[in-house]
Formats: sequence, C-alpha cells, structure tokens
Amino acid sequence: MKNLVLYFSVYETTKAVATEIAKQTGADLVEIEPVKPYDGDRSHYNALARYAKKEHDEDMRPAIKNKIDISGYDNIFIGYPMWWYTFPMIIYTLFDALDFSGKTIIPFNTHMGSSDGGTYRTIAELEPNATILKGLPIEMSDAERGCADKVKKWLKIININK
Ligand SMILES: Cc1cc2nc3c(=O)[nH]c(=O)nc-3n(C[C@H](O)[C@H](O)[C@H](O)COP(=O)(O)O)c2cc1C
Repeated sequence: MKNLVLYFSVYETTKAVATEIAKQTGADLVEIEPVKPYDGDRSHYNALARYAKKEHDEDMRPAIKNKIDISGYDNIFIGYPMWWYTFPMIIYTLFDALDFSGKTIIPFNTHMGSSDGGTYRTIAELEPNATILKGLPIEMSDAERGCADKVKKWLKIININK
C-alpha cells in the first residue's frame, strides 16, 4: 500500500504531526501550498483570524500553488488546523480539485479546543466514494510537545503500517 500525507499548516503545528505520521508510515509528505501565503507570525494572530473569517464567510476557495497528484496512492492522510470551527477554506479547494473516489482518506487536525469540529463528517460528505478512517485530532500544545506516542497508538488502531 502506498501512503501519502497531505497537509496545510501556517504555524507549523500540523506540519509537525504530518511529519511524524510520514516518519512512522513511510509515507510521502506533501504540503498544500497556497498561492497567496498566510502570515505565519504568531504575533499577527488577530489579522490572520480576521482574514480567515472573511474567507469563511465569503465561501472563498483559496488557490493551491503546487500540483498535487494522488493517483499513485491508496491511503491519503489529510491534515489541517481548525479555523473558525471548521477546516481552512483551502481544504475545500483541495476537495474541489481532486477526486478521492476509491481512495482511503485518513484525516487529522490540530486545534485549540474544537477537536475535529465535525470536519471528518464533512469530508465523508464531500467524498462519498472514498473510505474514511478514524481521524486524529491533536491539541496544539500536545502537538508541540511531541506527538509520536499518540500517532503510534492511532496508527495501530486504524491498522496502518509502514
Ligand atoms: C484563523 C484561526 C482560526 C482558529 N480557529 C480555531 C477554532 O475554531 N477552534 C480551535 O480549536 N482552534 C482554532 N484555532 C487554533 C488552531 O487550530 C491551532 O492553533 C492549530 O494548531 C494551528 O495549526 P498550524 O500550526 O498547523 O497552523 C484557530 C487558529 C487560527 C489561526
């Protein structure tokens, strides 16, 4: 089985989880890169929060810069931070652009209290012809402390090996 980890991350918390998953599964790691970069300086959080809210309220589809090819993969991990109680709008862009029919999607996310916020169910609705495995929500502070054990336990439960 060929595994791919796709992730979107601004403050690099989700990136840390994605990197750990790739390490433990032998997956290829691909970042979802926006054409218009987001400000990763945490001291500018309020501006990012406002901008993300606008994207959400206006149902925007921020463009993805890199070409993402999922054709050679069976299991595709998809990771993102919670933004305004759902996933960032660029994740909608991803699901609009790619067809995951026949693939297995394994969602994961970082958050500050919202857990997955119902996003795993949203993914199942957006991709009815994919199999969705149990996802992994990780608190930002836990992810920053190191998430190797949590990832290991979860991979065992969903039975994904290297
Ligand atoms: C614009 C914005 C909106 C956020 N909204 C939520 C939210 O609704 N619920 C939540 O639990 N955390 C929320 N957070 C916290 C992020 O999910 C958390 O900081 C995450 O770990 C960041 O991931 P990253 O480091 O990969 O960018 C928000 C953060 C930002 C920047």
